[in-house]
Amino acid sequence: MVEASAPAKIILVGEHAVVYGQPAIAVPVSSLRAVATVQPNKPHEQGLRIIATDMGTTLTEIEHSDNALAITARLVLDAFNAASPDLTIAIHSQIPVASGLGSGAAVATALARALSAALNRPMDNEALNSIIYEIERIHHGTPSGIDNTVIVYEQPVYFIRGQPIEHVTIGRSFSLLIANTGIAASTRVAVSAVRKRYESEPQRIQSIIQEIGGLVIEARQAIETGDIAGLGTAMRQNHHLLRQLTVSCLELDALVAAAMNAGALGAKLSGGGRGGNMIALVTSETAESVKNALLDAGAVSIFETTVA
Ligand code: PMV
Repeated sequence: MVEASAPAKIILVGEHAVVYGQPAIAVPVSSLRAVATVQPNKPHEQGLRIIATDMGTTLTEIEHSDNALAITARLVLDAFNAASPDLTIAIHSQIPVASGLGSGAAVATALARALSAALNRPMDNEALNSIIYEIERIHHGTPSGIDNTVIVYEQPVYFIRGQPIEHVTIGRSFSLLIANTGIAASTRVAVSAVRKRYESEPQRIQSIIQEIGGLVIEARQAIETGDIAGLGTAMRQNHHLLRQLTVSCLELDALVAAAMNAGALGAKLSGGGRGGNMIALVTSETAESVKNALLDAGAVSIFETTVA
């Protein structure tokens, strides 16, 4: 049985500004995954079938579907000039959708890996990354490419649009709580709201974007030298600037404030914003109290992840 998977991701610092050419840092969340399993078709089943039960999706005619998973499969088949094989790929994902954790890219990555393995043509990460970028364009319009990159390579990345990927070394491991507001939010809508602001107030927005870029450089240095408190400071300041870009919301602000009051070293929204998830930087001493404070402040789910 062929099985392939891909992780969720979070953006540590730099979302939105990354769309405008500033750097951003993202890390994989390897404990939350999308998994694709290849199975033989039953006697009455024909062609390539993709079944994603958690997403309520069953695709049996991938040639004629505009579903993102069908398009992923077609891009993989086209890359190898291969015909649709006779098999079923079942996809299961633990990653909440529309919450800034990269669910769409992770599911597509797991599928593409499973299909290419079933064809006996394993794909390298570079080729896979360009396919998943195409899928991100369907989900998000004009993505920077950070989500597909961190998910495909499954390593912390320092990402600048259009430039070679730089991997970030982790000087000292650190722990994050990822708390979900429970509000489904569209990254596409948030990105286009920032674009409108940028067009109406170019100087002000440009200076916020540059300030975010500066924080990302500081954050990278903090991560690489093991200065966890310094990373926390950059995260906190980054949240403040994201609020000025209007991509936070009352619920995210409440979670960030609760985490900080309970002793987190830093906290911010993560991803497109206006809902979805926030992250809080915690130590083994503060993790429990921050978790309880986040639940009291309305978090609907919390995952803990260690970046090592
Ligand atoms: O997919 P999300 O919600 O994690 O957001 C991606 C990050 C943005 O910077 C907001 C958009 C992008 O394309 O980089």
